[in-house]
Amino acid sequence: MSGADETAFGVYVHWPFCLSKCPYCDFNSHVRHAAIDEARFVRAFTAEIAATAERVGRRTVSTIFFGGGTPSLMQPATVGAVLDAIGTHWSVARDAEVTLEANPTSVEATRFRGYRAAGVNRVSLGIQALDDGALKELGRLHTAQEALDAVKVAQANFPRTSFDLIYARPAQTPALWEAELKRALAQAGEHLSLYQLTIEQDTPFFALRAAGKLVVPDDDIGRALYDTTQAVCAAAGLPAYEISNHARPGAECRHNLVYWRAHEYAGIGPGAHGRLDIDGARRATATEKRPEAWLARVEANGHGVISDEELLPEQMADEFLLMGLRLAEGIDPKRYARLAGRPLDPKRIAILHDEGVVETTPNGRLRVTLAGFPVLDAVVADLAA
Ligand SMILES: C[S@@+](CC[C@H](N)C(=O)[O-])C[C@H]1O[C@@H](n2cnc3c(N)ncnc32)[C@H](O)[C@@H]1O
Ligand code: SF4
Repeated sequence: MSGADETAFGVYVHWPFCLSKCPYCDFNSHVRHAAIDEARFVRAFTAEIAATAERVGRRTVSTIFFGGGTPSLMQPATVGAVLDAIGTHWSVARDAEVTLEANPTSVEATRFRGYRAAGVNRVSLGIQALDDGALKELGRLHTAQEALDAVKVAQANFPRTSFDLIYARPAQTPALWEAELKRALAQAGEHLSLYQLTIEQDTPFFALRAAGKLVVPDDDIGRALYDTTQAVCAAAGLPAYEISNHARPGAECRHNLVYWRAHEYAGIGPGAHGRLDIDGARRATATEKRPEAWLARVEANGHGVISDEELLPEQMADEFLLMGLRLAEGIDPKRYARLAGRPLDPKRIAILHDEGVVETTPNGRLRVTLAGFPVLDAVVADLAA
C-alpha cells in the first residue's frame, strides 16, 4: 500500500433505515413501520449527486460505498438508479470499487444477485458474532448459521466480500474470542472488520451499563482481546492495515482508505459527511440527519447540506494525522508539513519513539507501533498539540 493515489475520489451514499435498532448502535439509522418510498429517495439522491457534481466539477470516481443503516433493505433497482446517477454526473473508473453494507438475514441474501447485476462488486456483512446467545444480547435479528449462510451467498455472488465482528462483548474471554475468531477466519475471504464494542451515549447499552446490568471487559481484558486479534489475524494472513480492519495484502477497502488517507469524497444522503476540494480549498460538508427532513430540504433546495465550512490548514493537518495514524502504513510527515505549513515537532516524535509507541519506517513514514495502537488517541493528541 502507498498513500500516493492523490486523485482518489469516493462517493458515500447513506441509507438511513433498519428493521430494528440494535441496542449498542449510535449510527444514523431509523426504524419506520410504513413502507419507504424508494422512488422518492432515488429522486432526492439523484438531485444531491447532481448538485455536488456541479460544485466540484469533473472527477473520476474511484470508489462508491452504500452505508447505513441497512443498505441491503434497498431494492436492487434503487441501488442501480443511484449508480446510474453517479455515472451520469461523474465518470466512474472502470475498476471502481462499489461496496454495499448488508445485514446477514436470509431475506437480504436473496437480493445479492440483484445488487451484483446493478454494479455492486463488494459486500460488507454485519455478522457481529458467531454465537447465538451473543447475537441475541446484541439485539440482532439473525442466527450465527443464517449469517454464515449469507457469507456463502455473498461469496458466490461478489468478487470481493468482507464481514464485521464485534468483540469485547460481555463475559468474553481471550480464549473464547480466539476460538470464535478462528472459526470466522475459516469462513472469511480477503477482508474482516473487527470492532471492539464501544458503549455509546444515548444507547440502551449505555443505560444498561450505568444500571450495572451490562458488564463489559475491563481495559486489561480489552487489551488482551486486542492482542489476540492481532496475533490470530496476522497468523492467518490478514494483518491489520488499520486499527480495526484486516485484509490480505492488496484486498484493503479502497473506499475507507480514501478517508484514512485524507483524500476527497462526496457525502450523499441523510447525515452524510463529505470532504471536497473546491477552488483550491478543502471543505467539510454535512447534510441534514433526519431522513424526512433531509428529503424535504433536497426537494426544496436541490441538496440537503446544512453545514459547509472551509477547513483551515491546521484543521486539515490535524485531520490528516488523526485519520492517517490509524493505518499500519502511517503517514508521510512531509504531507503533514505541507498541510500545516510547519513540520511535526521532532522533540515530541523523539519522546514517542523512546516510549515505543511510534516508529519511523526506512522510507521516512511515521507510524504507530502495535504497542501504540491501544493508546492511539493519546499519541495523536500529543503529536497534534
Ligand atoms: C453502520 S453498521 C452497518 C452494518 C449493518 N447495518 C449491520 O449492522 O449489519 C457498521 C458496523 O459498525 C459496527 N458497530 C456499530 N456500533 C458499534 C459499537 N457500538 N461498537 C462496536 N462496533 C459497532 C458493527 O460491526 C456494524 O457492522
Ligand atoms: S448495527 Fe446495523 S442494523 Fe443495527 S441499528 Fe446499527 S446500522 Fe442498524
